[in-house]
Formats: sequence, C-alpha cells, structure tokens
Amino acid sequence: MVPLKRRKTVPSDTGSTGTDGGPTRFPQVVLFLLERKMGASRRAFLSKLGRQKGFQVEEVFSETVTHVISENNYGDEVRTWLHSQGGGPGRAAPVLLLDISWYTESMRAGRPVEILDAHKLQEQQTSETEVVLFLVSSYACQRRTTLDNQNSTVTDALSLLAENAELSEEDGRGVAFRRAAAVLKALPATVTDTSQLRGLPCLGEHSLRVIREILENGASSEVDSTKQSERFKALKVLTGIFGVGAKTADRWFREGIHDLHRLRASGQTLNRAQQAGLDHYDDLNQPVSRAEADAIGDIVRNAVVSVSAEARVALTGGFRRGKPAGHDVDFLVTHPEEGREVGLMPKVVSWLESQGFLLYQKITRNSYLESKDGPGRAASNMDRFERCFSIFKLPEGENRGAEEPETENASRTETARRWRAVRVDLVVSPISQFAFAQLGWTGSKLFERELRRWAGHEKAMSLSSHALYDNKQSRYLRAASEEEIFAHLGLEFVPPSERNA
Ligand code: UTP
Ligand code: MN
Repeated sequence: MVPLKRRKTVPSDTGSTGTDGGPTRFPQVVLFLLERKMGASRRAFLSKLGRQKGFQVEEVFSETVTHVISENNYGDEVRTWLHSQGGGPGRAAPVLLLDISWYTESMRAGRPVEILDAHKLQEQQTSETEVVLFLVSSYACQRRTTLDNQNSTVTDALSLLAENAELSEEDGRGVAFRRAAAVLKALPATVTDTSQLRGLPCLGEHSLRVIREILENGASSEVDSTKQSERFKALKVLTGIFGVGAKTADRWFREGIHDLHRLRASGQTLNRAQQAGLDHYDDLNQPVSRAEADAIGDIVRNAVVSVSAEARVALTGGFRRGKPAGHDVDFLVTHPEEGREVGLMPKVVSWLESQGFLLYQKITRNSYLESKDGPGRAASNMDRFERCFSIFKLPEGENRGAEEPETENASRTETARRWRAVRVDLVVSPISQFAFAQLGWTGSKLFERELRRWAGHEKAMSLSSHALYDNKQSRYLRAASEEEIFAHLGLEFVPPSERNA
C-alpha cells in the first residue's frame, strides 16, 4: 500500500486521461492498471504517479499494453479478465501479469525493476486447484474412490437421475449420470462453486446443468420432479420386488399397477422368484447390516466345510468394499484343487435347506467354457459361474454383535417372528478363475464397467469374471491374484475399499 501521506500530496485531478508528466522514458513498457479490487481513485492516483515518473500508463486496455498491474488479484482472476478483453493466448505478444509490488518498486527506483518471483501474481491455494489437479484420470478404475464421499448431495441427485434412466431402459443416459457421479465421489473436497468443475472428466452438459443448479439453488428442479413423478415412484416400488426388472415393472405400470396392493389384486401370474420377492418385500427392502452379513457368512462357511473340508468361502460384493450395509450378501466359493469345486453348489444348498436356512433358492448351472465362450464373449458382464440366487431365513440374534438389549418391552409374544429374510448370492468358481471372479464380483458396478472399458479401449483386451484375453497376443493372461490382473491391465492396484466408484 502507498502511504496515505503521499497520496495527499498529489493534485486532485486524478481522473485525467492525458499524458501528463514527462515524455515516455521506457518505450518498450506499456502499462495498464486493473481497477478490479484496486478501486478507481487509487488506480487514477497510481497511473498519474507513473506518468510523472516517465512511464507510459494506458487508461484503456489495448493491444499495445505489455504489462498488466493488479492488486490483490489471483493469477486466475486476471487471466479470466484478460481473456474477456480478447487478450488471451491468441495474442501476438504475451502480456505480463504483475503484482502492484513491481509497480511501486519501479516507481521508487524511477525505472522498471527486474521482475522477481515475488512480483508474479499468486495462484489460488483453495480447493479449486486441488480438485482440478487431483483429477486427471477419466476411467473410474484409475481413481481411488473411498466411501468417504465429500459431495453426496450432488452425487445422490445424479444417482437418482441415473436410476430413473435405467428404469426407463435408457442405459446410455444412465451410465453418463453414473460416470459423472463417480467423478464427484472421487474428489477430495466438497465442490462449492462451478468454477471448480473446470477440467473434470465425464461431466456432460446435462450433468453439469444439474450440478450447477444444486450449487446455486441447493436443489435441482429435474431431480425434485423426478422424485415426485408417479411413474418413478411406482417403478421403484415394483422393481423393489426381487425378480422384477425394469421391463416387467414398466409393463405393469402401463397396465395401471402402481403399487403392491394393486399388484396383489391384479391376479398377475408371478414366477417363483417374484412370488418370494413379494412375500418378503419388507424384509428385502430393509438394508442388510454388516453384522447380519457376518452372521450369514458363518452359516455359509459351516455349510461349505460340511460338504467339503478344504473348500473356501470369501465375502465379496459391497461388503468386501467396506460398505456398512447392502441390498444383499455376495459370497464366492472355491476349492484349492482345480475341479474339486464341481458339484459343490447343490450339496451346499441341500445342507442349508436341511437346516431350514433357505426361504427360496434357484441354482443356475455353470456353462463357461474357454473353448466355447472366450474370447469373443469374454467381455460380457453376464458371467456363467454356477450360481445360487437365494433368500435366507436369518434367525434373530444371529447377527453378531447387534443384539437388542433384553428389556421387558422387548420380550416377544409367541406369534412374533424370530427371523428375517435376506437376499444372498452364492457363486462357485474354479480356483484358476478365482482372482477374476473376485475382481468381477467385488464391484462397484461402475468400477467393473470401467475396468472392462479400459481393457477393451486402452489395452485391446477382453476382461470378464472368468478370464482376461489379450487380443493382440491372441492368448489368455493367467492371474492368481487381483494384483496380477491390474498389472496385466497396466493399472495401479486399487484395493477393494477404494473401488466405491
Ligand atoms: P451387487 O448387485 O450385489 O452390488 O453386485 P453391491 O456392490 O454388492 O451392492 P449392494 O449389494 O447393492 O449393496 C456385486 C457385484 O457383482 C457383480 C456386479 O457387477 C457387482 O460388481 N455381478 C452381479 C456380476 O458380475 N454378475 C451378476 O450377475 C450380478
Ligand atoms: Mn451385493
């Protein structure tokens, strides 16, 4: 700051635009003082002072200006202003953007002083630069996405629009919203201003519009109207039934079936899965806790070792990524000796059934054969492991560490239910494919999709939950661990807890 005393000694005709002062002594230096933050009167005062010292100080910015002087402005702000003046990168000679300190020192010296680092404009050290710098990778599988989401308001909104698109079978639009949400989930800080979105990948026009609306108004009109729409509400209720997909739900909706009551009254024929889904609707729409997942893990492990002592069970899906709750529990079963996994599934399921643990089960047969399926079909996300979709009857008190305290009020009548229904998926994999199965079933769904897209587009490889095929070498790449698969793909290893894209 120029001391107030000196300001007072200057004549008051500071608004003059003439070339007062002596002749220009430094023809190669043409100055322009930015009024932004400096203020009009201080700018006029400093301009006049410069001219008196023999500097050429322009009143209006033009092509001839070589030095732009500003006070309390960040580099980014001045560059934005310069751009708006048509003085951006396309200009013949670049303009020097300098801090007021260079100007005052030059005034004191009576000549343009050497430009030091201290004279350059500061760059903003806010989250903006952090955010933009942190995010260079456009594939979700190149990023680390923990459950610690700093932008949940925005990502919840985008996820809802993705869900709505998927319910309308507009999968392309759904993926676009999911990708945009995944980028924001990976940011290390909360986005508060749209300027922070610059340079981020995967943000299409539509997603940007929604994000901007939320940042500016706290809500998105499109999200709000979707949430309130009859169709969205009905399709959510109907697809909440195990065994009912978007197609069926849409057909029912068009037939006037908008809720469970009308579905029950309609006399629609339901398949076995849908009937079980309807019977256990409330239970299955209540999130499964980690304690319940662990309790089911104990039961499944008992079942598996009962039928084959060396067979192994691994928790997979969202719980392996560290999620505190899920819509189901996913398990992988394998045997350390290749081939000994064959026939395990029916035995495990029989054991569970004999113990009364199953309310519903359906085994689908393994049909994956490298010679037949790969490599042409290997990129498919539908895998062909022997798999069992089931609904478990989890006895109460089996959810380890989450028992209710025994109080008078909690004592049950004889008719009270002492169990709850939980969706469980069991998958049997031969040990040779186990790493691929583990990678493919850990999720998240978007992370998996991005892994396959990366493999195909960037590496000319086909990845599935069974194998990785190299199209250039025309051969399968073996792997005994997830780490090896990431290495084959030329990706840095991302642990399960950071695959929450
Ligand atoms: P889930 O649908 O169980 O999701 O699929 P999740 O991440 O565990 O989350 P919750 O259960 O909703 O809490 C788990 C993983 O299994 C893969 C999916 O791609 C996902 O990555 N999966 C699922 C398959 O590979 N094939 C299938 O047929 C189903
Ligand atoms: Mn799951």
